[in-house]
Amino acid sequence: MSTSPTDNLDLSNIQGDILSGLPKKTQYYLFFQITDGTKFKKDLTKLIPLVKTVAQVLKDRETIKDHKEKGHKGLVPMVGVNIAFSHSGFTQLNENDPFITGQKVDAVTHLGDTKNSSLGPDWEPAFLQDIHGLIIISGEGHASIDKKKQEIEGIFNVDTPQASIKEVTTIRGDVRPCTESGHEHFGFLDGISNPTIIGFDDANANPGPKPIKPGFILTGRDGDADKPKRETAPWTVDGSFLAFRYLFQKVPEFNDFLKKNPISKDGLSPEEGSELLGARLVGRWKSGAPIDITPFKDDPALAADSKRNNDFHFTGESNDQTKCPFAAHIRKTLPRDDLEVTRHTDISNRRIIRRGIQFGPEVTKEEKDSAKTMHGRGLLFACYSSSIANGFRFIQESWADAQSFPPGTTTTPGLDPLIGQGEREMTGTDPSNLTKSITLPEFIVPRGGEYFFSPSLKGLKETLAVAN
Ligand code: HEM
Repeated sequence: MSTSPTDNLDLSNIQGDILSGLPKKTQYYLFFQITDGTKFKKDLTKLIPLVKTVAQVLKDRETIKDHKEKGHKGLVPMVGVNIAFSHSGFTQLNENDPFITGQKVDAVTHLGDTKNSSLGPDWEPAFLQDIHGLIIISGEGHASIDKKKQEIEGIFNVDTPQASIKEVTTIRGDVRPCTESGHEHFGFLDGISNPTIIGFDDANANPGPKPIKPGFILTGRDGDADKPKRETAPWTVDGSFLAFRYLFQKVPEFNDFLKKNPISKDGLSPEEGSELLGARLVGRWKSGAPIDITPFKDDPALAADSKRNNDFHFTGESNDQTKCPFAAHIRKTLPRDDLEVTRHTDISNRRIIRRGIQFGPEVTKEEKDSAKTMHGRGLLFACYSSSIANGFRFIQESWADAQSFPPGTTTTPGLDPLIGQGEREMTGTDPSNLTKSITLPEFIVPRGGEYFFSPSLKGLKETLAVAN
């Protein structure tokens, strides 16, 4: 986690969710349409004081640490707001960027989402409407974020004749309960591996893939391919593009698949064989321990050790999936040495900072017994980078959805078994028969999304909001 900010980055100018993640147990994603642009710009001036920056989040994290160290009970009351906009109003940004076309078009043309009868994506009706912006409200509990949501609705006079925005939909995410906290709905610990940003993160805190320049995440900073262009419109500096995906997870079906297809290996019980199959689909055990380090047995101590749990590179395994299948979710979405060493390809421009939160209830007994999903649940996936085309969309389209990625392997890897869209076949799940291909049902269903730009505080204050 971030520990050593330098004065190269203006942490009071960057929205808090981007580099440090708004502290949260619960979170609203409030999607809106601007109904009166002139009025909206004025109302925005009143929202800006609520927008939490990276500098403020770092202070919040100190407060939380102090609270824990002093042995205080309960959670520190705390709310954080961030705002982001879709392409409307941002036409001066790169016009070839998928941000301009919007995700509704991109979903079918690039992301592989299922089409509905009108050839648009098969999404929730809310996401088929025009969405102009997103307000994220994070907090430690429902009462806090409800109160803040009401305050924000007051600022924009929602549901009154003076309204400047219309709420398209609001989705609440919640961190899962008790021991599942931090784990996504299939049960795997998430949020372990995010890029280390030079000049912001302490590279020794969580060794792993090589640190990247801030501009791969922040617009207009060193590393951003469009830096010169951003400098001609200074309000676009210190922002980040946010790709949001509304991803439903078929948890009972996933668990049933693992149960029915245990990997048979000497000494493993059927339950352990099912656990191993799950680990080989993801690339980590449920505990978070990476299978590239501990391929056949979970190691919770390794998982809990931030000095070791991300320090692996698939080194010397460019044609070997004994330890970790080529198509395993984490190898597909960050192939490490498969590209950086074997192909001499720098993949800094493919890095994304993942935030997001789970939504929906825990699996019920009825769902478990019938192996059928009856209640919607999944991940409010959100990731930041300075280019959607190079970051999120590239990972989804050119890596996860590509049968032959990573390249140069004698056995075709197949699709990412979690997020791959298309014929979900993959090799490498069975360590004693690595060329065997298995077919996987669809476990994750995209039901909405949009691309946003999360501007700097200066951008919000000096360009987007108008005082009178
Ligand atoms: C419901 C959908 C998803 C689930 C359940 C899921 C689950 C996970 C889990 C359990 C991890 C390992 C924990 C970690 O390394 O932090 C992970 C890592 C990752 N996921 Fe996902 N994920 C989902 C969607 C996506 C999408 C849509 C993308 C991008 C297109 C993505 C990109 C990544 C990346 C880049 C990593 C880190 C890889 C690394 O650094 O080693 N994930 N995901």
